[in-house]
Amino acid sequence: MRLAVIPGDGIGPEVIAEALKVLGEVIPTAEITRYDLGAARWHATGELLPESVLGELRDHDAILLGAVGDPSVPSGILERGLLLRLRFELDHHVNLRPARLYPGVKSPIADPGEIDMIVVREGTEGLYAGNGGLLRKDTPHEIATEVSVNTSFGVERVVRDAFTRAAARPRKHLTLVHKTNVLTHAGSLWSRVVEEVSLQHPDVTVAYQHVDATTIHMVTDPGRFDVIVTDNLFGDILTDLAAAVTGGIGLAASGNLDITRRNPSMFEPVHGSAPDIAGQGIADPTAAVLSVALLLDHLGEHESARRIEASVAFDLATRDHNSPGGTFAIGDRLAALVSSNVRTG
Ligand code: NAD
Ligand code: IPM
Ligand code: MN
Repeated sequence: MRLAVIPGDGIGPEVIAEALKVLGEVIPTAEITRYDLGAARWHATGELLPESVLGELRDHDAILLGAVGDPSVPSGILERGLLLRLRFELDHHVNLRPARLYPGVKSPIADPGEIDMIVVREGTEGLYAGNGGLLRKDTPHEIATEVSVNTSFGVERVVRDAFTRAAARPRKHLTLVHKTNVLTHAGSLWSRVVEEVSLQHPDVTVAYQHVDATTIHMVTDPGRFDVIVTDNLFGDILTDLAAAVTGGIGLAASGNLDITRRNPSMFEPVHGSAPDIAGQGIADPTAAVLSVALLLDHLGEHESARRIEASVAFDLATRDHNSPGGTFAIGDRLAALVSSNVRTG
């Protein structure tokens, strides 16, 4: 297994160190190549993602990324020039973001019930496409545009993936989240694609919700969601919310998948570089560890992925959540649990 690792900025390297500790327990033979991309490299050389590095990254089975973004770099340079460029170049069209409330984890919702959903977020289009500009810049009549790009090809492949995932889950329920009452062009395309693909999945029940109302239900009745399919920006926002209601952003993992497998997929915590806590050794590495489990599942190493998930579940069920220990302590605990092959459920 050849893995490229991009620790990145802020808490990225801190949580990745722990994730690699855990990975080493399940796949000791994994070949790891580390790529120092991010704020430090940009300051030193002006480089974000050199072509040669992109070429090397393509030559791996998967990529593990910590986080990018730093207050010393103008907003968007690293996010667009590195993270989004990777997602676009490697055609990571399915951004998979599970959100599950593990036993023992406290939700900020008083009576949350069972929460177990996956958000299938479109990853290469929408408002992230970079289609826009500034007209009449530095005049009182300046105009800024950001055009959301939704192609029938791009929407269909993500919707198909979401239906396939829903069909494989016990509840077989899919919710399309959009804003069809205002974004009538893109909304029409997404709705029609969902309707067409649903004909091939009569076993999957389908619901539609506007994104604003979805934020209400995510907080008042999150248990209603099974699989959510949505566009790039709605998915970004909803998955921070889904993380918050399932115990916090420190637990939320994601996979940026090229489901055609032509390019390596990339796994990363949902959270960012968290400059407010970077360098303090207090970031929770669990999201990065669970991202390794998603990575292993993607590479067919299901048994190892289950071992990691079981260890996380055990740790979360037995953790003192008021004082969980620092980044290293959590990583050490998870590595020990994985090596002792703990089982739950
Ligand atoms: P953030 O996710 O970095 O932080 C939001 C809040 O969550 C902060 O209070 C932070 O301390 C907390 N937090 C995040 N990860 C945590 C963890 N593992 N354990 C405990 N607490 C954690 O979002 P932000 O502050 O909006 O962004 C900071 C930078 O990260 C920006 O430059 C942004 O562009 C970038 N960013 C990168 C990614 C990525 O690389 N995938 C994702 C989101 C944001
Ligand atoms: C995420 C982040 C990224 C996104 C940014 C940093 C480009 O917020 O992974 O959720 O918006 O997708
Ligand atoms: Mn985000």
